Amino acid sequence: MSEQEKNITFAYWVPNVSGGLVVSNIEQRTDWSYEYNVRLAQTAEKNGFDYALTQIRFTAGYGADNQHESVSFSHGLLAKTERLKVIAAILPGPWKPALAAKQLATIDHLSGGRIAVNVVSGWFRGEFDAIGEEWPEHDQRYVRSEEFIRTLKGVWTQDQFSFDGKYYQFKDYTLKPKPLQKPHIEIFQGGSSRAARDMASRVSDWYFTNGNTPEEIKKQIDDIREKAKANNHSVKIGVNAFIIARDTEQEAQAVLQEIIDKANIQAVHAFGDATREAGASSIEGEGNWAKSTFEDLVQYNDGFKTNLIGTPQQIAERIVELKSIGVDLILSGFLHFIEEVEYFGQKVLPLVRQLEAQQQVLIAAKSA
Ligand SMILES: Cc1cc2nc3c(=O)[nH]c(=O)nc-3n(C[C@H](O)[C@H](O)[C@H](O)COP(=O)(O)O)c2cc1C
Repeated sequence: MSEQEKNITFAYWVPNVSGGLVVSNIEQRTDWSYEYNVRLAQTAEKNGFDYALTQIRFTAGYGADNQHESVSFSHGLLAKTERLKVIAAILPGPWKPALAAKQLATIDHLSGGRIAVNVVSGWFRGEFDAIGEEWPEHDQRYVRSEEFIRTLKGVWTQDQFSFDGKYYQFKDYTLKPKPLQKPHIEIFQGGSSRAARDMASRVSDWYFTNGNTPEEIKKQIDDIREKAKANNHSVKIGVNAFIIARDTEQEAQAVLQEIIDKANIQAVHAFGDATREAGASSIEGEGNWAKSTFEDLVQYNDGFKTNLIGTPQQIAERIVELKSIGVDLILSGFLHFIEEVEYFGQKVLPLVRQLEAQQQVLIAAKSA
């Protein structure tokens, strides 16, 4: 089946840190508790979502005052769901690959093969300083992450695995039991700088990027897929979007406006300052948040820019447009998670599937 013929996949951000997904004082009927998250995960798997992504954060700094740990939280959600895959975010530095490989392999067994991992390279220097972790400069963090991913794969797929890297070493190591998933547990990565894209084109199964316009997303996808081809590697693409679906466009736009009008100005500025350690600090000065405005930063990962804001029909059409430029997965955030995930599953998703089916008929007719 060609990429075009496959249905687009949906994931959602697990609100395992407090304050929701927007840095705003607007009312949010989203809660970071375990109880709320279990109900959300169960709602999501009944409403067409295949993946949930947890966040890893060690300290506050711009809101997000409380942060549940990602791997244990992911396991807690897997225990209460049946179908959903949960992606646990892991930071090289605090995590070592030997521990991560073992921990995730066990969770894979406990969950019947439903854990995945998001290797995040780090942008929040304040938290690394606070917990006494070294802070390598931008591109070195990706050198370390690439070694982290190569060693995860090695440990999960080989016996007597050896590796002699700059950051990690293994000697004749055999992990038992190996994960259930074959060839190995899926590996996602976050980041969009040149170093992040290059890493994706060599080792990651999935590349996650911040929200953006279709034109800008396409540039990244073309770059990664071209490089991946040269490396004989294939990588799937996930894009962040803060979805505001309402019966009318006016209602949806009014919600966006209210989120921005009620932004927590001090916290948004603090967040903006912290993001200067991300791609903006690389030689190319490109990457997540490098061009973000104040309004963009009100949503942690530039999710307004993807513009999935409007009626179910408008949103479905824009999702299918993203699919046509090579996006495989939409990573979604919502203001009031449980109720909006339900609305999305009932009102938006059927339209997406209808449009995809129509496109497939057109593709089949063209190739006949
Ligand atoms: C979808 C997505 C999820 C991310 N999740 C986390 C996270 O949970 N914790 C974290 O510290 N960084 C997270 N990041 C940040 C990235 O790992 C990376 O540090 C950041 O995007 C900067 O990338 P760049 O320097 O390549 O532009 C995430 C990024 C994306 C796109």
